[in-house]
Amino acid sequence: MNPDDHVCLCFHVSLRKINSYLERENPPVASLISECLSAGTGCGWCVPFLKHLHRCHAQGKTPDLAVSPEQYANQRLTYRQTKERDQTFVDGVTGEEKEIGPPGVDGPQ
Ligand code: FES
Repeated sequence: MNPDDHVCLCFHVSLRKINSYLERENPPVASLISECLSAGTGCGWCVPFLKHLHRCHAQGKTPDLAVSPEQYANQRLTYRQTKERDQTFVDGVTGEEKEIGPPGVDGPQ
C-alpha cells in the first residue's frame, strides 16, 4: 500500500496519516488510533489492519499493508455486503498466518 492510500475507507484516513499519528503519539493500544480522524469507528473493516499497523510500530518496523488499494477496497465491499471477513485475506495482508500443528506435521516442510 502506498502512503496516500486509505486504510480507513469510511473516514478517508491514509496510511501516511496513521503512521504520522503512531510516530507522534506512540499510543499504547491500537484502539487509540481512532483518535486519528475517527479511523476504525465506521464499518469496522479496517480494525484488524489498524491493529497490525500498531503492532508493526510497537516492534520498530515500518507499518505497512501488503495489499493493493484495489484488492483492499474490494474485500471491504464484500465485508460490507456479507458482514463476513475473509480471515485468509486479513492474515495474508497482515502476515499473521498461523502454523497449524508442529512443523513437519501440518506446517511448512
Ligand atoms: S474502513 Fe475503517 S471503519 Fe470502515
